[in-house]
Amino acid sequence: MTRTHTLMRYGARLLAAASVLLLAACERPPMESVQHGYRGTGMVQVVNPSTIPARIEANEVPVALPAVPADGPKAKQVYKNVQVLGDLSAAQFTRLMASMTTWIAPEEGCGYCHNLANFAEDSKYTKVVARRMIQMTQHVNEDWKSHVADTGVTCWTCHRGQPVPAAVWFKPDTTLAGADFIGDRAGQNEPAASVKLASLPSDPFTPYLLGDLPIRVGGTTALPTGNRQSIKQAEWTYSLMTHMSASLGVNCTYCHNTQNFAKWEGGPPQRVTAWHGIRMVRDLNTAYMEPLTPVFPAHRKGEMGDVAKANCATCHQGAYKPLNGQSMLKDFPELSKAGTAVPAVVAALAASAPAAGKATAKPAR
Ligand code: HEC
Ligand code: HEC
Ligand code: HEC
Ligand code: HEC
Repeated sequence: MTRTHTLMRYGARLLAAASVLLLAACERPPMESVQHGYRGTGMVQVVNPSTIPARIEANEVPVALPAVPADGPKAKQVYKNVQVLGDLSAAQFTRLMASMTTWIAPEEGCGYCHNLANFAEDSKYTKVVARRMIQMTQHVNEDWKSHVADTGVTCWTCHRGQPVPAAVWFKPDTTLAGADFIGDRAGQNEPAASVKLASLPSDPFTPYLLGDLPIRVGGTTALPTGNRQSIKQAEWTYSLMTHMSASLGVNCTYCHNTQNFAKWEGGPPQRVTAWHGIRMVRDLNTAYMEPLTPVFPAHRKGEMGDVAKANCATCHQGAYKPLNGQSMLKDFPELSKAGTAVPAVVAALAASAPAAGKATAKPAR
């Protein structure tokens, strides 16, 4: 009798300890749900209020240096090797250099990008990359307003005081794919953080955020001719969707009316913003990140020798508007003056964009 009791007591303690361990990865209830669509459509966002203070802290922005006069000698007159920011006044130029240091390399200082004995020299790869990054940031702010609106981005949006942004991705090692006796695993059955440990293909980035494979799940033709759609393909779509939801800290209903995932009509406008976001990330990865591959040293590259690339988490980092929607761009208007016409590829996309609420709107392929 006593023996059974002792056993039971131990058992209960063990169970209690195990459940604490098991629940350690979960968020403490109570959860709250917020309406995100018409009543009765089940379009709610589930949020945990206890995580909000941490989210606010993670999205703080550094205080901008006071504005300086735009007149006086220009940077290109004062300095020797200014290829992008030449039209800023020397004062504005210095203010931006100081800010970039806070945004990218606060510990290392100017020397992270410069040979301190000769600031004009391009001997450090970081300076060469940074010059291209300035152009990339201007391009996002100028040509991708369909996604970033007037809020825009600065180096801080991605970097947050670190040389390498917290969320980047590399191509997985594919040399082993198919070597397995069960054949090509399509990147599945290996728990990967990129898809929240689900049994989904772990790399939705190469096909959709670098390549432009179709994301749609439903077939557009009755016959299999030229029709790629299959359950296997659908899993890649779900893998991307999981990444998008996790990056923004939202549920599927933030962008979809789950009555019909494919239908744009009656869906939240955020899905259209996301549609542009997918194209924007592709553009940044193909036009800016990949061409920088030879500039980066080997230790910065992935196992396939590729450069670190951006996905939705690079800017969003868990918030549905990066930095909770605070605009740093308003204090740095020089980061939106690309001075070029909207590139043809962006203009063509804008014309084919789907519009929420329009029954006929379909994303072009
Ligand atoms: C994240 C990289 C980065 C950091 C950090 C940085 N710079 Fe620069 N700097 C650049 C780039 C890129 C250029 C060239 C800009 C262009 O071509 O328009 C440049 C150019 C310059 C020039 C012009 C040199 C010449 O004669 O051509 C000066 C001066 C300068 N920076 C000063 C500074 C100072 C001072 C700091 C620290 C407060 C600093 N920079 C920190 C990237 C950086
Ligand atoms: C859309 C996100 C994004 C924005 C905006 C952005 N960067 Fe980057 N940056 C990246 C990614 C991704 C890398 C590649 C990470 C790596 O170095 O491996 C990178 C790399 C760099 C590096 C190389 C760091 C190293 O140690 O290898 C420098 C320097 C840099 N960025 C400067 C800037 C500056 C300056 C700005 C603003 C004018 C800026 N970046 C804006 C995403 C961004
Ligand atoms: C941030 C917005 C956003 C979130 C969150 C999101 N989606 Fe999507 N979803 C989209 C967009 C945009 C497309 C269309 C992509 C394209 O065609 O370029 C899409 C397409 C799809 C499709 C293909 C529809 C078709 O036309 O065949 C499915 C299925 C889908 N999403 C499911 C999901 C699921 C499941 C979740 C939650 C895990 C989710 N989505 C979360 C924006 C989102
Ligand atoms: C270069 C940085 C950057 C990247 C990368 C990025 N976004 Fe955004 N995104 C923004 C900014 C900035 C906003 C806020 C715009 C505004 O204030 O309306 C935004 C807003 C959004 C919104 C609208 C949120 C709302 O509540 O109105 C959605 C949805 C979204 N992004 C989805 C995505 C998806 C999906 C991806 C990846 C395919 C992505 N974003 C990649 C910068 C980025």
